[in-house]
Amino acid sequence: MVVAMLSKLLLYFLLIKLTSSSSSVDGLDFIYNGFRCLNLIRNGVAEITSDGLLRLTNNSLHQIGRAFYSVPVRFKSKSNGDIFSFSTTFVFAIVPEDPKLGGHGIAFVISPSNDLPGALPSQYLGLFNLTNVNGNSSNHIVAVEFDTLISPEFEDIDNNHVGIDINGLRSTNSSPASYFTNKNGESKNISFISGKPIQAWIEYDSVEKQLNVTISPIDVLKPNQPLLSTSINLSSDILDEMYVGFSSSTGSVVTSHYILGWSFKINGPARPLNLSALPIPPQRPHHSEKKWMILEIGLPLFIVFVLMAISIGVYELRRKIKFAEILEDWELEYGPQRFSYKDLFMTTKGFSEKALLGVGGFGRVYRGVLPTSGIEVAVKKISHESRQGMKEFIAEIASIGRIRHKNLVRLLGYCRRKGELLLVYDFMPNGSLDKMIFDHSESVLQWKNRFQIIKGVASGLLYLHEDWVQVVLHRDIKASNVLLDHDLNGMLGDFGLARLYDHGTDPQTTHMVGTFGYIAPELARTGKATTSTDVFAFGVFMLEVACGRRPISLTATLVEEPILIDQVLERLKREAILEAADPKLGGDYVVEEMELVLKVGLLCSHPLAASRPTIRQVVQILEGDDSVPELSLDNFNSNEYAVDHDEGFDDLVILFPSFDAQSLLSGGR
Ligand SMILES: *[C@@H]1O[C@H](CO)[C@@H](O)[C@H](O)[C@H]1NC(C)=O
Ligand SMILES: *[C@@H]1O[C@H](CO)[C@@H](O)[C@H](O)[C@H]1NC(C)=O
Ligand SMILES: *[C@@H]1O[C@H](CO)[C@@H](O)[C@H](O)[C@H]1NC(C)=O
Ligand SMILES: *[C@@H]1O[C@H](CO)[C@@H](O)[C@H](O)[C@H]1NC(C)=O
Repeated sequence: MVVAMLSKLLLYFLLIKLTSSSSSVDGLDFIYNGFRCLNLIRNGVAEITSDGLLRLTNNSLHQIGRAFYSVPVRFKSKSNGDIFSFSTTFVFAIVPEDPKLGGHGIAFVISPSNDLPGALPSQYLGLFNLTNVNGNSSNHIVAVEFDTLISPEFEDIDNNHVGIDINGLRSTNSSPASYFTNKNGESKNISFISGKPIQAWIEYDSVEKQLNVTISPIDVLKPNQPLLSTSINLSSDILDEMYVGFSSSTGSVVTSHYILGWSFKINGPARPLNLSALPIPPQRPHHSEKKWMILEIGLPLFIVFVLMAISIGVYELRRKIKFAEILEDWELEYGPQRFSYKDLFMTTKGFSEKALLGVGGFGRVYRGVLPTSGIEVAVKKISHESRQGMKEFIAEIASIGRIRHKNLVRLLGYCRRKGELLLVYDFMPNGSLDKMIFDHSESVLQWKNRFQIIKGVASGLLYLHEDWVQVVLHRDIKASNVLLDHDLNGMLGDFGLARLYDHGTDPQTTHMVGTFGYIAPELARTGKATTSTDVFAFGVFMLEVACGRRPISLTATLVEEPILIDQVLERLKREAILEAADPKLGGDYVVEEMELVLKVGLLCSHPLAASRPTIRQVVQILEGDDSVPELSLDNFNSNEYAVDHDEGFDDLVILFPSFDAQSLLSGGR
C-alpha cells in the first residue's frame, strides 16, 4: 500500500519534472565536442557544417549568425532572488579573408529571447540596435564580446579585445586579447583573426558575485589567472529563464566565425572539452610550395601579372590625370593654404551629388571632412578659365585666408587645376540665411535671431572695411552669402570672391560684379566698387531680413512693389513703416528694433553714395550708441535707381537665368 503510494508519488514528481523540462532546464549541464547533433536553435546565416563546425557567419557581408541552446536555462530558484552560479567553456576560431582585417567578432550571450528581433549586424554584433544599445536595464542581455574591430562609439580599446557587455556595447570591463602564463604570470598576446582556435572560459560565482573571463590558445592549459575579473551582481540582469548561446556578425569585411566545441553547466564548473576531438576550421588558402605547381601555375600567373602591371600603369596614369593640379612657382609661398586636389576629391567622395550642399552664383559647394584634422569643410568649386589675374587673385585669397573674425566664414585654403579653382571654407551647419527667411519652411526665424544676425554681419563687414590691415571689399553681400553657425550667428562668407571676375575681365568692357538688386546705382554706372557700394548692398540685406522678401520680386502682385526698397520707402512716406515687416513674424518683434533696422536699411541703400552712413556708423546705431548724429532720409528719390541698361549685367545670367532685366527696368521705371 505504502509502496504503491510512494511509487505513484514518484511517478507524479517525474511527470512534473518532465513537463517542466520541456519549457526550461534546471541544473543544466551539456557538452558538445563538435556539433554533430542538432540540439541548437540557429538564426541568420548560422550553419552546422558537415564536419561538425558551428559556422556562425559564412562569406556574406553585413550578416548576423546566432545559435542558442534549444531550451531556455533556468537561472533562478523560486525561493531566492539570486541567480545560480554558472560556467561555460568553448573554442572558437575567426578566419577573415584578409589576414590583416577582421569584422566584427563573436559574443557569448545570455538573452531573454532566441532571436533578438530588430538587432543589427556589424558593430552591433547581432545583439542590439540603435535604440537599445546604450545599456537599458530592460534589455536583460549579458554578453562577453570577442571583438576584432574598434568601434569608437562604444569606446572600444582596440581591434582585438575581450569585453564584458551588460545590456549594451559600452563594455563594463575590457582588455586586449591576451593571457597570463601559469609559469611566471607573464602576459602574452593573442590575435583573434589569426584563424587559430582559441579557448574561452566564462565563470560566474553567485556567492562572491564575481564574473571571470579567461582565454588561451588551444595548445595552452587553462591559465590560473583570469584575463578579466569583475565584481558584479547579475541577479537583476538575468531573468528566471534565459537562452544561452552565441551571436556573431560581419560588416564590410568577409570573415567566417566558427565555434568548435562548447560546454555549459549551472552550479558547477563546465566539463572540459575533448580538444583532440574537435573539428578543425578551414584556414585561408596557403601558397603551395610544390615545384610542379610553380611551373604549372607560374606561366599563366606571370602573364596575368604582366597584364595587371600594364593595367595598373594605365590606372596610375589616369589617376595622375584625374588628380592633376596646376602649381606654379609663385604659388610655393602659399604652401600651407594650398590643398591637394586628391584630398579634396576624397573628402567630398569624388564631388558626388550626395556631398553637394548647394549651387551658388559662383559654383557648386560640396561638404567634406578633412582627413588629417577632422574639420568639417565646405568646398566651393568654381570653373574659371581665365589665367589672367590669377596670380593677384591667389595672393588675395592667401591674405584673406588669414582673416579671423567671429562673423566671417574662415577661408582655409584653395586648390587650383586647369579651368577650376577650389576654395575650402569652414562648414556652417545651419546653411545660408536666405533659405531660412525666404523658403516656406515651417519654422520662422525669430526676430531676436534676425536682429542678432544683422548686427553680427555688420560687425564682420566693419572688420573687412576698417579693422583689418587692408581694406577688403566684399562686393556681394546678400542673404544667400550669410551662413549660420550652430547658434544661429550670422557669418559673412565669400568675401573677395567677386573680385575673381574683376581680375579676369577684359578691361575694354565694363563688367559689373555683384548681384542684381544689391548693386548701388553708381556701381552700375562706373563699375567701381567702394566701401559705400558694400554699404548699399548691406542696406538691401537688412531690408530683406526685416521684410522677409527678396530685393526684387519676380512675382510681384498688384499690392506688392517689385522693388523692395521702393516698397519700404512708400510705407515710410505713409508713416506706416512697420507694415513692411515680415508678415511671417506675425507681429512678434521689438517695434523699436524693427523700425531701426528698416530705417537704417533704407539709409544705407540711399541712391546717393554721400548720403549713406559708413559701416562703423551702422554698427554704432545698431548697438544703440546715442552719440551717432541723426541721419536723414531727405533727397531719397527712388528714380535714381533707373540704371542705364547699356552697361553690362553679366552676373544676371548667372543669378537670374530666366529674368529679363531690361523689360523690368524699362517697364515704367
Ligand atoms: C551564406 O549564407 C546565406 C544564408 O544561408 C546564403 O544565402 C549565402 O549564399 C551564403 N554565402 C556563401 C558565400 O556561402
Ligand atoms: C530594437 O531592439 C528591441 C529589442 O530587441 C526591439 O524591441 C525593437 O523593436 C528594436 N528597434 C528597432 C527600431 O528595430
Ligand atoms: C600586446 O598587445 C598590446 C595591446 O594591443 C600592445 O600594446 C603590446 O605591445 C603587445 N605586445 C606584444 C609583445 O606584441
Ligand atoms: C544582488 O541583486 C539582487 C537583485 O537585485 C538582490 O536581491 C541581492 O540582494 C543582491 N546581492 C548582493 C550581494 O548585493
